[in-house]
Amino acid sequence: MNSESHCLVSRRGLLQAGAGLLLASALAPFPAQSAPSDGYRIVAAPGRARLRPDRPETDVWTYNGTVPGSVVRLRQGERARLVVENRLDQETTVHWHGIRLPNAMDGVPGLTQPPIKPGERFVYEFTPPDAGTFWYHPHANSLEQLGRGLAGAVIVEEREPVAVDHDVLWLLSDWRLTDRGAIASRFGNRMEAAMSGRVGNTVTLNGRVSEAEPFRTGERVRLRLVNASLARIMALRFEGHRPIVVTIDGQPCDPHEPEDGRILVGPAMRVDLVLDLEGEPGRRYDVVDDFYDGLSYRLTQIAYDSRPPIRAHVFDALVVLPRNPLPEPNLASAERHTLTLQGGMVSMGGMSGMGGMMGGIMGGGGGMMGMGHDAVWTINGQSMTGDGHAGMEPALVFERGRSVLLELRNETAWWHPMHFHGHSLKVLSRNGKAVPHRQWQDTVLMAPKDVVEVAFVADNPGDWMLHCHVMDHQMSGMMTVLRVA
Ligand code: C2O
Ligand code: CU
Repeated sequence: MNSESHCLVSRRGLLQAGAGLLLASALAPFPAQSAPSDGYRIVAAPGRARLRPDRPETDVWTYNGTVPGSVVRLRQGERARLVVENRLDQETTVHWHGIRLPNAMDGVPGLTQPPIKPGERFVYEFTPPDAGTFWYHPHANSLEQLGRGLAGAVIVEEREPVAVDHDVLWLLSDWRLTDRGAIASRFGNRMEAAMSGRVGNTVTLNGRVSEAEPFRTGERVRLRLVNASLARIMALRFEGHRPIVVTIDGQPCDPHEPEDGRILVGPAMRVDLVLDLEGEPGRRYDVVDDFYDGLSYRLTQIAYDSRPPIRAHVFDALVVLPRNPLPEPNLASAERHTLTLQGGMVSMGGMSGMGGMMGGIMGGGGGMMGMGHDAVWTINGQSMTGDGHAGMEPALVFERGRSVLLELRNETAWWHPMHFHGHSLKVLSRNGKAVPHRQWQDTVLMAPKDVVEVAFVADNPGDWMLHCHVMDHQMSGMMTVLRVA
């Protein structure tokens, strides 16, 4: 059942259902700029946004004047041209996170392109091979630039429309706001960098704290979740609903219900759900993020309008998306390597989430660890700090076309969403147990002490970043370069 496009597979068997019932409209919940023939223009510039109703407007950094930035809609297999203009007062670049594109278009300053200076522009051109949910963000002064709002979704459309009523995007961002609505300064606190990273106090959905999101009973939606946070990990529960995970990091997987009904979305990860709206007209259902112990909060509510159900019967069939053209690694001949993550603060004992402790320690301010340098994390004993720069020596070199099996070992006491550029990774096992549902990811979330095996074909030539996407962790050393020669 992997490759049939748009067919419907039953939850309990393989019954074909009437696809004719379904509307194939793709309505975005907020303006999606459609690509003009000469390409998208994306302007990075300061702006203002009302992130929460109970605070004044916030000074933010925007793409095309909004947070998140305008949605970039591309088509699988069709050439894209994106002109990025820098109207910030510092250098920037744009990284098209998760898209398998040519190295020169990858947006890593120094390594793949010169940074875009204030007042200058850079033209990105590539043909996305994979349909799915991706996103774009700066790869220069990343902690601050992402933390001030520079992020947007990239939706690469399938060649054939997918049979859902609506295509909905929830781009989730985490902000640390002061009482007066300003973004708290002091990016790069060393204490946080050695622990969970800069977890904020305000989570927005498409740029605003959300009370409720409107739906109608009987609809089937594709809900695209993007976690654009600097550091916040999310575990979402949809009360009264049974969402089905259909893609992870843009790559279709075997449709499945998430373990314990919680959808784990680490920073930079994307998860697409098919959500059947089976609630009662007029009722509201909570969507809760309870990742951090003792700090669960309501992200929003699914709010049904009072109209009668859009259709009489709920679906018995799953949406199966066509697989993307990923090269299958040959595990028998793959070369094996280990990447070991180390560093950070040692365990504070017995905590599965660190929220409570963070609250206690953060008030004490940074610097109390007495670390004399900025590197607090290592990969195989080496620390690369910052955002990327010229002359970074690769930790590993692969011959083009080789299958590679990487063992990622998290020997730290903290969570890390590990991101590899230019490729997608087939996730084979976690702590010795096979990972089901044939998942491919570009950002693999690792719990403390996790050992994860991933495999890929090194088919995309160039120097590619591999780093933790908790931005403070990346900046303070949890980064390396892998070369495909
Ligand atoms: Cu989304 Cu190197 O990053
Ligand atoms: Cu990390």
